[in-house]
Amino acid sequence: MSEKKSAMSAVRAACPGNAGAAAAGAVRILPVRAGAVWGAEALSEADAAALSAWLRKHEFKGEAGDTAWPQGMSSPVLLAGVGASGAFDAARWLRGWAAAGKALADAKADAGRVEGSVFDRLPDGAPSREALARLMAEGLGMGAYRFAKLRSGEGAAAIAVACTGGDFEEPAVRRAVERGALAADTVNEMRDAANLPANRFGPAELADFARKLAASAPGLSCKVYDEKALRREKAGALLAVGQGSDRTPCLVRLEYKPAKAAKGARPVALVGKAILFDAGGICLKPAKGMEWMQYDKCGGMAVLAAVVLAARLKLPRPVVAWVPAAENLPGGGAQRPGDIVTARNGKTVEVLNTDAEGRLILSDALDFAAEEKPAAIVDVATLTGAVVVALGHEASGVMGSDDALLAALDAASAACGERIWRFPMWEEYAKPLKGTFGDLRNMGAPGAAGTIAAGMFLKQFVPDGIPWAHLDIAGTAWNESAVAWGAAGATLAGARLLAAWLEAGEEN
Ligand code: BES
Ligand code: MN
Ligand code: ZN
Repeated sequence: MSEKKSAMSAVRAACPGNAGAAAAGAVRILPVRAGAVWGAEALSEADAAALSAWLRKHEFKGEAGDTAWPQGMSSPVLLAGVGASGAFDAARWLRGWAAAGKALADAKADAGRVEGSVFDRLPDGAPSREALARLMAEGLGMGAYRFAKLRSGEGAAAIAVACTGGDFEEPAVRRAVERGALAADTVNEMRDAANLPANRFGPAELADFARKLAASAPGLSCKVYDEKALRREKAGALLAVGQGSDRTPCLVRLEYKPAKAAKGARPVALVGKAILFDAGGICLKPAKGMEWMQYDKCGGMAVLAAVVLAARLKLPRPVVAWVPAAENLPGGGAQRPGDIVTARNGKTVEVLNTDAEGRLILSDALDFAAEEKPAAIVDVATLTGAVVVALGHEASGVMGSDDALLAALDAASAACGERIWRFPMWEEYAKPLKGTFGDLRNMGAPGAAGTIAAGMFLKQFVPDGIPWAHLDIAGTAWNESAVAWGAAGATLAGARLLAAWLEAGEEN
């Protein structure tokens, strides 16, 4: 495989007194909110007049994700909508900056600049300037990404965005820009792996990738359970899913131990589904759209990314990621509908549908995670088509057993601009999961609350007393084609959300 890097952006805060560092031809980015251009005061009189003339002719309200290149300016200007109306919304703010990053990349611009005066008109409900600057840098960096690794002739179009003057002279704001840029670069690096198709990235390659990640920052360590180890561990559900493929399953454990952990701080556990390809198994999926099932590894990639983010941002909480990795194929050794498998925790599961494989591999991984008695467990998975029916591509589904943990995740969501929406977990929803001959069956009533049924299944593998939440990212993990604020392919949904939760550092 080529070692070429995909387009990445380097967003940086220029040092005070070095405000002229931005390249002369750098595109000036101006956010627009509710029809008002922020930072327009910094324009020359002639440019301000040209901009007003352009705005009179063109309607540009500042809908998040809209961008425009106003004509007649003395140097290039990019308008980036960050919200047309309403109270401040981090998701829209992020989306607006991401669209700006993408517009720069699409225009093959190699330099941009943002001036501190962009924060001069903060909307109602806006968070601190540090928080705004962090999201801005994350958006610019992630928006400029595209997956170019496997296309010949496409170079690494690095974009440098310099943030200068005004509030950017404050050390805390500069630090926020740097941390945002670091987060974006890490997410982009992980997207380069998440976007690899199944012929180039199987369970063994994922394990190698995790080992390399462990060497990339202090405090990280990696352990891989191969097929033999999984047999010894009686991980019957994970093994059953993997047995239809020649590429054997494995389980990755990536741990981050902070240099200065709070005394007695128990690690939190993250569990992420990594099906390297989901053909459905013997219950084969239809061919239409099956090529997207290489993205069925994105929950696993998101939790690996979250742990790497924790390490690179030097967050104070210890964290362990568990990633069960398998390929769900209909080979001669594949499990059949009706098979009854024994999960690692001893429960027997009737496999009614081999395409409901995510919950099977997660059940064993949750059991491994729970054994270490973590402070909390959060799992992330492209688990159900039903969550796309419920929420589309605007939010990930979330459910769980602990209100404090769910509230902490909501707070992280509001901070990082990644939307989540809660589903109920009334115990009645578990009734259809009762097995006829085994303890459980791996699906509920077809067409009825499929996302909740999957969540209720997972709940059976988390002991009472450990706060647990489950994120279904089937609708948010990838873009099937490019959107204004992001390239086609993996989004790494969940990664920044989990990092924001870890960063908040609350007990839950
Ligand atoms: N990986 C899929 C879920 C999925 C579907 C993700 C579409 C993204 C887009 C999962 O393994 C699956 O096949 N789920 C089934 C479960 C059903 C058989 C109970 C589904 O949602 O159809
Ligand atoms: Mn499936
Ligand atoms: Zn799947």
